[in-house]
Amino acid sequence: MEPIRTIHRHLLEQEKKHPEAAGDFTQLMGQIALAAKIIGNSVNKAGLLDVLGGAGHTNVQGDAVQKLDILANTIMKDVLLRSGTVAAIVSEEEEEVVIPSAEDPRGPYIVHFDPLDGSTNIDANVSIGTIFGIYRKISPTSEITDEDILQPGRSLIGAGYVVYGASTMLVFSSGDGVHGFTYDPAYGEFLLSHRDIRIPDVCKIYSANESRTTHWPPGAEEFIAHIKSRSEPRYRNITTRWIGSLVADVHRNILYGGVFLYPETENDPTGKLRLLYECAPLAYIVEQAGGAASTGKLRILDIVPDTLHQRVPFCIGNRDEVALYESYIAEFAKKLQA
Ligand code: AHG
Ligand code: MN
Ligand code: MN
Repeated sequence: MEPIRTIHRHLLEQEKKHPEAAGDFTQLMGQIALAAKIIGNSVNKAGLLDVLGGAGHTNVQGDAVQKLDILANTIMKDVLLRSGTVAAIVSEEEEEVVIPSAEDPRGPYIVHFDPLDGSTNIDANVSIGTIFGIYRKISPTSEITDEDILQPGRSLIGAGYVVYGASTMLVFSSGDGVHGFTYDPAYGEFLLSHRDIRIPDVCKIYSANESRTTHWPPGAEEFIAHIKSRSEPRYRNITTRWIGSLVADVHRNILYGGVFLYPETENDPTGKLRLLYECAPLAYIVEQAGGAASTGKLRILDIVPDTLHQRVPFCIGNRDEVALYESYIAEFAKKLQA
């Protein structure tokens, strides 16, 4: 059995590889782990704490907000803004950028997060998650500018997610591979359980909400039909899985090998999922694990965002399948123009 490695010990070891590090990143990740423990505690008792159900209003996205969305957002904001490590945060549940109050110390990082992903699954006790991406503040003054907030995913210095499922697991990368930590309530610690996660070579699973295939762009439905019917033995047992919680679907596909697809439709020409705090952080993680992520035309990490809550079409998972999806989209777009 591996010696017990807490996330803090792992972070300190990673920090030693960066002599210039001041310890802010370690401190920030420690606070994110704290927030994950607090949110996980509420999620695990959701049915008992009257936090189930709708909060009775919609967010900036127009999504019906669940009480746990608000609780998770409050916890993430409170922990991060008081951590002394952030200059600003962007949250799915906040219309604008949020900066620490005058009393709270600031730090060098910008954090984008989806405090609770998979909200529609909360009342059914299905796995949900938290997603976060970490950038360095780059503008020279203390002001927070678009240059700081709207950075491309290529500029991420770290990203990760928490899955609140059979166990609470925190998976993150700071550019040196992807590592998974499982929460052990006995110690109150996240312990290293999945060192250097790599997405398997073979795509065994495809994840898509097929109730919408008739609304997808040309090539998307043909792509799914193709990967369902490949005759090579390695693809023969492909299956479909759709939890409806992006974090849980992507986490499973990284571990087992799979591709997740949420294309644009006529009604949602830029898709449903948000670039800053869903797609870019997950794209960073999956690329670190040997996979890829694309809109079908552009690699997610290359996109320079225009707005905070911008949506993008999303295909993420095995590198070959993402490239194949891009080729289907390109081929059918050409046919349309012919
Ligand atoms: P969120 O709960 O943060 O709004 O995210 C929900 C997203 C994502 O988790 C999931 O993959 C997708 O919505 C499911 O969309 P459909 O309900 O359209 O299938
Ligand atoms: Mn989400
Ligand atoms: Mn959310």
